[in-house]
Parts: sequence; structure tokens; C-alpha cells
Amino acid sequence: MRDQYGRTIEYMRVSVTDRCNLRCVYCMPEKGVPSVPHNEILTFDEISRICRIGVSLGISRIRLTGGEPLVRKNLPELVGMIRRTPGVEQVSLTTNGILLKDNINELVSNGVKSVNVSIDTLDEQRYFETTRGGGLAEALKGLEAALDFPELTVKINCVLLAGQPQEDWIRLAGLAKDKKVDVRFIEMMPIGFGKQYAGAGQEKVMETLKNVFGEPKRYSGRLGNGPAVYVQFPGFRGKTGFISAVSHQFCSTCNRVRLTSTGILKPCLQYGGGTDLRKLIREGAEDSEVRENMEKAIYGKPAAHHFDGKISAAEEERENFETKDMSQIGG
Ligand code: 5AD
Ligand code: SF4
Repeated sequence: MRDQYGRTIEYMRVSVTDRCNLRCVYCMPEKGVPSVPHNEILTFDEISRICRIGVSLGISRIRLTGGEPLVRKNLPELVGMIRRTPGVEQVSLTTNGILLKDNINELVSNGVKSVNVSIDTLDEQRYFETTRGGGLAEALKGLEAALDFPELTVKINCVLLAGQPQEDWIRLAGLAKDKKVDVRFIEMMPIGFGKQYAGAGQEKVMETLKNVFGEPKRYSGRLGNGPAVYVQFPGFRGKTGFISAVSHQFCSTCNRVRLTSTGILKPCLQYGGGTDLRKLIREGAEDSEVRENMEKAIYGKPAAHHFDGKISAAEEERENFETKDMSQIGG
């Protein structure tokens, strides 16, 4: 469907848990966040139902996120449930990769279309520090396991962190040389702890990569479901992408809404509030009533976020911005 600004909304990111087996410095506090009790998290049936109703409003692609989606028991089963919903064209997954090796067969047999693996550095020590204890080897095993399936679209997400050496960008980008994988550099968004860790912008990274890999070919169109802009370096199998929500705002072509693990439908990442679908569902609402509420939320999607800070304090107060962390909203 179209929202009030004429944007076609066809993509929903669904967070299936706020829990995670890592503690990335820009996402979570060291000791983790208090876990939401299980009964406050949507069941697979509830999630599937919301997806099915979403389809009737024009949502055709679903991405499962977290926290870390694979810490939720039987996640591949949910992939299958959503994939079998008539009208759902794609189900994909964003994961830190740690549990991917053990789950990839089932994910694929349940119809997952694409997997994004978050890896911010290929340096074991820096990976350990950034994730507060994570093992890079596990994440890489997960990545390789996914790459064993040629039909799967595999991407790497690297969030640009303050103080990250250029070597990290070069090594990560270099993965796309021999592997069929797209590597995307994501500008840190000032959400939760992210505010403290904002790093380099895409121009700086691009300049560094050009010096090493040569002049890339530009892609003018859009690839995939999101706002990434892509280039391809000479001789590379995969593409190199940039997602820069702050310095290159893409709100005018935003096509997505988000469902949190507790059932709040959020039309924009930056705004607080949202529509409590869990409450509606658990109070026994019919599909038609859930649909009406989803339609209203999607229609009212805000025009743009204001991550660049060009907004007055008074406006900020009035706008009711999100104060939760990424792990609670769903990345
Ligand atoms: N800004 C940008 N990306 C973030 N992620 C988590 N927090 C932030 C932030 N503040 C990323 C994760 C993962 C994806 C789901 O979101 O690293 O790649
Ligand atoms: Fe976990 Fe992803 Fe947050 Fe890291 S960024 S702590 S992997 S949810």
C-alpha cells in the first residue's frame, strides 16, 4: 500500500527476539538488557498472522531480525510458516552468524531467500572487543556455510565504528573479490549506544577502497529491498554497498515498516510509540480490525527521520523520538 506521502510500503522487518548471544558495544550494555518475559514476545502463530494480514496490505517481503534471531528456538520453522503464506515472495534473515552453521540447512529447506551476516571486522581481537566476547571464527564458519548454497543471496553488514582502522574496511571489502557476497558498509545511526560510536562516513571508506582496488563501476538503480547504493570493483565477484542513513538520508524512498518482538508495529525507526498489535490480537480482535490498525499505522508513516540533528529541541520533544536500544527495536 501507499503511505500518506505516496511511498509504496512492501517490506516488513520482523524482530523475533530482543535477546542476543553477543554484546556489541554500540547496541547493548555490557551486562545485556533485562530480557522481556517470554509471554510478552509474539508467538510464531501471532507473527505469521500479522505477516498474512500485512500481505493483504501489500507487504510481500519479510526480513527476520533480532536481537539475534537464531537464539530463538526453532526459528527455521517460522521461516517456513511465513514463506508458505500466499503472497509472501521473500523471507530473509539478518544474523550475527554465530549460530548460522548449525541452522543453515533447515533455513534453506524452509525457503530462506537471503542471509545478511553482521561482521564489523576480520581482526579476531577487534571482533572480540566490539562484540564483547564473540568469536570471529564462529561467525566466519556461519558465513561459509551460507555461501555453500549458491541459490542463497549472502551479504555482509559492517557497521562503521569510531576508531576502526582502514585495514578493517579493506579486508572486509576484499571478501567480495573471490566470494559471491556483497559487502555493505553501514553508517552508525545515533540510536541507543550508537551515539557514542559513530565512525567514518562512506566517502572516506570509498576513497580508501578506490586507492586499493581501483576505480569501481557504479550501479545507478537499486538492488535488493533496501537503501544501499552499490559499486563493483574491477575483477570482484560481489558488490560493495553503502547504507548511510545519516549523511545520505533516504527517507523519501523508504519502503519499510518494523514489527518489534513484543508486537509493536513501528512505521519509522526513529520514532517512539507505534501500534500495539499484540494487545489487539490477545484481546481477540478479528483480522479485519488488526488490518485496519496496521493500515492506519502504515499510512501515517512519518516523512523522515532527523538523525542529522537538524531539528530544534522543542520539535524533538513534540516528535516523541525512540529511546530504546537497537536490540529492543530490532536492527
Ligand atoms: N547503527 C547502525 N547499525 C546498527 N546495528 C545495530 N545498531 C546499529 C546502529 N546504531 C546493525 C547491526 C546489524 C544490523 C541488524 O544493525 O550491526 O548489522
Ligand atoms: Fe547482537 Fe546484533 Fe546487537 Fe551485536 S548488533 S549485540 S549481534 S543484536
